Amino acid sequence: MSNRIIQRLDWIRQDFALTPDTYKALVEGFRAECVKGLNTASASGLATMIPSYVTRLPTGHETGTYLALDLGGSTLRVCAVKLLGNGQVHVTEVRRLITDELRKTNTTAFFDWIADCVEELCALLPNETRDTTASMAMGVSWSFPLDQIGICKGTILRMGKGFTLTGGIDGQDLATLFLQAFRRKGLRVVVTAIINDTIGALVAHAYSNPRARVGFIYGTGVNAAYPEKVSRIIKLNIAEWQDTATEMLINTEIDIFGNESYLPLTRFDRALDASHAQPGFQPYEKMMSGAYLGELARLVAVDLVNTQDLFNGHVPALLKTPWSFTTAHMSELEGYPQDERLVGRVSELLQFSAYQPSQADIHAMLEICVMISTRAATLAAAAIAAIIEQQTFEPDQDIVIGVNGTTFEMYPAMPERIHQALEQWFGETMAKRIRLEVARDGGSIGAALVAMLYQEE
Ligand code: BGC
Repeated sequence: MSNRIIQRLDWIRQDFALTPDTYKALVEGFRAECVKGLNTASASGLATMIPSYVTRLPTGHETGTYLALDLGGSTLRVCAVKLLGNGQVHVTEVRRLITDELRKTNTTAFFDWIADCVEELCALLPNETRDTTASMAMGVSWSFPLDQIGICKGTILRMGKGFTLTGGIDGQDLATLFLQAFRRKGLRVVVTAIINDTIGALVAHAYSNPRARVGFIYGTGVNAAYPEKVSRIIKLNIAEWQDTATEMLINTEIDIFGNESYLPLTRFDRALDASHAQPGFQPYEKMMSGAYLGELARLVAVDLVNTQDLFNGHVPALLKTPWSFTTAHMSELEGYPQDERLVGRVSELLQFSAYQPSQADIHAMLEICVMISTRAATLAAAAIAAIIEQQTFEPDQDIVIGVNGTTFEMYPAMPERIHQALEQWFGETMAKRIRLEVARDGGSIGAALVAMLYQEE
């Protein structure tokens, strides 16, 4: 590598590095926003610290079959979840990818498409489950902000993740949209519980490990949930809840947290935000979640190409178009064996035509990925640290965090990097108590469990 590229990479690395002071400001900033969100009555527009109305967690002994629907940024899953009573479940599922066209369609057409999938699932169920005169209860996991005012009542806020449904979706009651779509298809299914996917991750993980106290989603998007003392949820009518529950799960919507005063934004973060369809929305998420890491890496690489420091000034096809280099590509690069095969693989992946990248080019590209993914891990750890600090734990109590999402599960060494950043913050002794455990299928299993917990209400 030439001295010049080494120096330029050093500068960029410094931009992306989080110093102990920046990290402290992040954790404190997140905590202050938690307190502010709990105290802010109105949840219109962009709401954070949203009460879920879920006040108990499963024990792992529950049984029965419940329907669940999990709408994420890229996939719709409709399931029948059979709780086996020993912390285990059996899932029958219909899964569909959400195309770009669907993300932009009319709201009614979108919900009709969902109802078609539910109809398909119902056809797979055994006759004794289907042939009942009663409606089947369904739990819904909604991976988008929702202003929730009851266990199955909430109005849709801005959707994010590339959804721009037409026909006025913002402000509509979610359960009603489902009910109307199911009625149009003649389906006897009724939504009895609505949760955010991060609440789902916590509830689902609690079914297999009742010590779980944080649910964390780290995939296309990011978010966290935890049980908060009812007495501190000022935005609730506390008097109404105090006699029935001591804790309620809170959907933090931490993705929306953050502002210039404590988020260490680089010029690349600002450029990404400016080119996004929703500038200013979800600033923290844009710095670290799976939807964005690839584009950040692309912006850095193109910057170095433009000054002739990388690839001798040649932009490979994959880096030409915004958003075409993805987090999955970065993940592949970082995970690929670091030997003589790497140059060939990277050239193929980035789609060079006339130029043959050098070893130095490939190492620089890899460095870019590492600095962005390492910052992402540290930012994830800052959110987890803040949510841990929001709670009180016994001195020897394990701190179990159920994590769901492809960035956590698939990106090379992501769990280790997050844990290391937590250790730097909390110290070795406390870090030993912090367990980052995979909460698989959090949304659907969590939604089924909440439908079960609240079936009679
Ligand atoms: C959404 C959250 C969701 C998170 C993880 C964010 O973009 O706003 O509601 O929980 O992604 O899926």
